[in-house]
Amino acid sequence: SNMVKVAVVGGEGIGPEVTAQSRRVLDWFAAKRNVPMTLREAQYGLIPYLATGKVLPEDTAEAMDEADAILWGATGGPETTEVPAAARKAGSLLGLRSKYDLYANLRPIMASPALSASAPLKPEVLDGVDFVIIRELTSGIYFGEPRGIETLPDGQRRGFNTEQYTTNQIRRVARSAFELARTRRNKVCSVDKANVLETSVVWREEVIRLHKEEFSDVELTHLYVDNAAMQIVREPRQFDVMVTGNIFGDILSDCAAMASGSLGMLPSASLGPVDRFGRRKALYEPVHGSAPDIAGKGIANPLGSILSVAMLLRLTLNRPEDADLLEQAVQTALASGARTADIAEAGAKKLSTVQMGDAVLNALDKISAKE
Ligand code: NAD
Ligand code: IPM
Ligand code: MN
Repeated sequence: SNMVKVAVVGGEGIGPEVTAQSRRVLDWFAAKRNVPMTLREAQYGLIPYLATGKVLPEDTAEAMDEADAILWGATGGPETTEVPAAARKAGSLLGLRSKYDLYANLRPIMASPALSASAPLKPEVLDGVDFVIIRELTSGIYFGEPRGIETLPDGQRRGFNTEQYTTNQIRRVARSAFELARTRRNKVCSVDKANVLETSVVWREEVIRLHKEEFSDVELTHLYVDNAAMQIVREPRQFDVMVTGNIFGDILSDCAAMASGSLGMLPSASLGPVDRFGRRKALYEPVHGSAPDIAGKGIANPLGSILSVAMLLRLTLNRPEDADLLEQAVQTALASGARTADIAEAGAKKLSTVQMGDAVLNALDKISAKE
């Protein structure tokens, strides 16, 4: 059938709270816009661990395996100390990224004009910010071998990891960046630490080689990662597409989140290779984690998760108009003053997670009634 299969996995901490709002949004698009999808909810984390001995039980693994797209909430937090490290590792998010080969992680950074009063950066710095970080997600120091903890003859412990990139791993993620840039402002900035790391020397040479071979129409620049972190705060408008390795992308995207007002605002898509049927497995998730400091309070910002649904509509469902509609509804909700605590200016009324979901659904109803 032409139904797209979506697995909805809230996970832990604020994950289930924000994902519940995204679920309402998905249901709205299925009911009101006839988006052809079937939703399957599945559990992840401490709760299924206590019931089954696995953080990722069979039913959840099956739901994710058969899905075209996974909507993920979050994993982690203090509750994870109740799960032994081995059980945790067996079903980890990193394991899933690796299992489905989700190598291209898109993290769009957009400044909302409505948030300029509460954003930590000045309005004149934020005005017009619109760029995408593409983070390589299946290699680098996160996955390199050897890794481990050993005890030295003198009794000290030594932890070690291996940073690594092969030419193919670099080329495929760089290709994603160049292709995306062609649909935008045609600029790629590749970020590395080629003044120190051999991995980065190979990274830079391969990016340059691919650029020469296939993408010489795209403007290509390079930055060292330390400078890139500074430039993101100094003048984020200069960027269109930024491509970088796993750990640099992790750090730079939390940093760049501040250009959108809050970490709670940032969506992401993690894409695998295109298969022989032209399909591309994808996992959509907010960039933030389980936020143990606010979990269970019903005050988390659901917009990062809701905007991840917009990416799902655009990239997996191929429904650009619906994606635009949802992004517009989020901006309308913000413009009407809807604020969770993390994006509230002093004295503003603070909405709960559910109330922010209400605000987005109201905006969807209003905008679609006008059309
Ligand atoms: P975090 O992203 O969970 O939280 C960082 C800070 O941002 C906290 O102060 C939190 O309250 C705030 N925040 C995050 N999301 C928010 C939201 N939606 N609304 C309002 N405020 C929000 O990062 P952390 O505290 O370093 O990590 C907590 C746990 O989450 C760790 O176990 C970490 O490994 C895990 N984590 C998981 C994912 C994921 O599942 N993809 C991503 C990042 C971190
Ligand atoms: C993210 C998270 C993860 C990462 C953690 C939870 C393993 O911080 O998705 O950004 O480091 O990739
Ligand atoms: Mn992170």
